Amino acid sequence: MTRVDVRNTELIWPTKYDENGKLAPIERPGPYPFQIVELINAPRIGRKGKHEQLTLYDIWKGEEGSTFEEGWSNKLIWGDNKLVMASLLEKLTGKINLIYIDPPFATGADFKFQIPLGDENEEITKEHSILEEKAYRDTWHQGLSSYLQMLYERLVLMHQLLAENGSMYVHLDWRVVHHVRIMMDEIFGTDNFQREIIWWPNNPSGFKGIAQNWIHDHESLLFYSKSNNYTFNKLWQEYSPAYVKATFVHDDGDGRLYRYRYDRKQYLDESKGVPISDVWDIPFLRQNADERVGFETQKPESLLKRVVKASSNEGDLVADFFCGSGTTLAVAEKMGRRWIGCDLSRYAIHVTRKRLLEIENSQDVEDESEIYNRKARPFEVLNLGKYERQLWQTRTFSNKDEKQILYEYLAFMLRLYGAEPLSGFANIHGKKGNALVFVGAVDSPVTIQEVLDAMKDCKSFGQRELHILGWEWEMGLNDAIQSIADREGIKLKLRIIPNEVLDKEIVHRGDVRFFELAHFKVKINGEMPRNGRTDISEKNVVLKLADFVIPHTDLISEDVKKKIEKWSDWVDYWAVDFSFDNDTFHNGWVSYRTKKNRTMSLTAGPFTYERSGKYKIFVKVIDIFGIDTSQIFEIEVP
Ligand SMILES: C[S@@+](CC[C@H](N)C(=O)[O-])C[C@H]1O[C@@H](n2cnc3c(N)ncnc32)[C@H](O)[C@@H]1O
Repeated sequence: MTRVDVRNTELIWPTKYDENGKLAPIERPGPYPFQIVELINAPRIGRKGKHEQLTLYDIWKGEEGSTFEEGWSNKLIWGDNKLVMASLLEKLTGKINLIYIDPPFATGADFKFQIPLGDENEEITKEHSILEEKAYRDTWHQGLSSYLQMLYERLVLMHQLLAENGSMYVHLDWRVVHHVRIMMDEIFGTDNFQREIIWWPNNPSGFKGIAQNWIHDHESLLFYSKSNNYTFNKLWQEYSPAYVKATFVHDDGDGRLYRYRYDRKQYLDESKGVPISDVWDIPFLRQNADERVGFETQKPESLLKRVVKASSNEGDLVADFFCGSGTTLAVAEKMGRRWIGCDLSRYAIHVTRKRLLEIENSQDVEDESEIYNRKARPFEVLNLGKYERQLWQTRTFSNKDEKQILYEYLAFMLRLYGAEPLSGFANIHGKKGNALVFVGAVDSPVTIQEVLDAMKDCKSFGQRELHILGWEWEMGLNDAIQSIADREGIKLKLRIIPNEVLDKEIVHRGDVRFFELAHFKVKINGEMPRNGRTDISEKNVVLKLADFVIPHTDLISEDVKKKIEKWSDWVDYWAVDFSFDNDTFHNGWVSYRTKKNRTMSLTAGPFTYERSGKYKIFVKVIDIFGIDTSQIFEIEVP
């Protein structure tokens, strides 16, 4: 039995200490560099300095300074927050002024979203992705103790990221708030516990009449500071009409109401109201509320407004590492704060990106009767991409030379795909039935040249079917390569290696599925480009999305398929970079469906080029599951 030398009052759960009674070390992988996937709302023209040297798959260097004027861009990061925070620590230790988190709880609602479909706002419930299920399992496989371990490791990292004047709010409910309170006392120090805020949403949970008990109708926000010198802007609330009626009973004759305080007149119109207490009466978000974006666990902006306003100032850095639909980020954006958001779910990132793009049409936070009416400041979408995979590769096939690691990696991937290794070919790795198989590297996209070389080997072997497995793909590869394959008489399948491969348990269960790469067609000034190229006869360019195909829908549920009426129903969002410069994708034009407006324009432009010359047009299409497909077209402007 483990003997633990406990000197302070603390919470202990089974995995907190190792068998020698030592605090189990907190895994701190990395730091890994972040890949910049996309730049949003940053104008290309005049985009100088920081972004100028970016290349595709470039990394975030963290050199942009800490004000918008110095070039700071807000950040939306797709990935597990443990890896993300461990990597952020390199540049941002002690730099975040406010962190709010609303971590998932085992209610089944944590990863549940309603996905609206097509033009008519039909809805389906999004099924969990295997990665989301994994997070759920990691968190709950040993019940409460694994939940506490998950949160403990992350709170330690957040504490390190927090600035000396910083504040931390953890949103929880009655099930775990007391455990987490003790845990946070240990990490933050009991003296830094500031308040337990009771949020009263006035929405008693279901089965109200049946429960032989008091009805649950509150959640808690544990508020801690990093030190005793923390930012706090005291907030006041207007008096209630009943209070005004009962207390401000005097009238000067000119309509101004007043009361006597310590023998002096206190006018109602000069009073700040009541200082806000630690019980917050803020209504829950109704299902039909305008700000709802389909997230079961979405919190109201009015709740976050209070947190952000009280515990940060304009220009401060605010973070939410379980950002879900992006409520904290939307509020921080509207209140002029800098922000970082992170979520494990690709769909959550997609929803948040749309929410921020759409922010100008949402309610203002200061005056809720007004529309915000401003665009979001430039932000970047980042992930750890290949670095997460490299970490997996080193861990899975460790302690051997590079050649050996590569050999084992190929054998492992082929086994997963149900293929046999094949030797003697430079560009073919295996065979599955009559098809030859090529496996893309962990740390670089499959290139057109690699596919061409594999096709050559395939032909010389007298085979007619080739499967290419890849984590990522050179831009524009799909269309360019399919027409060559058709000409060569080769049946070519491009299959995505899913992130689930990184999870031992999923692999062990045999749940890994390789989806085929989706593809789409566009017309440029009415013409279908050939081999990704077209010449145009004027300086104006109009793009029309002409088709979108998910090649094999057998992995998609019947419920979804039944509701799809036309190809465009698969598409949720598409964006165009008219002047792509082999750098990060920059969404110059975008159209997407929102909850209120289900129509999406299938025509982009006209875009006018000022100068003649060769240009690249980068088109990104995101389907209803939040998965993106991209192509690059080359044009020559006269
Ligand atoms: C309760 S929801 C947050 C809802 C959010 N407050 C809102 O207003 O939309 C919790 C979120 O945490 C995310 N999540 C769970 N585990 C995570 C992890 N390890 N890293 C990053 N995000 C995670 C889930 O994908 C989910 O979107």
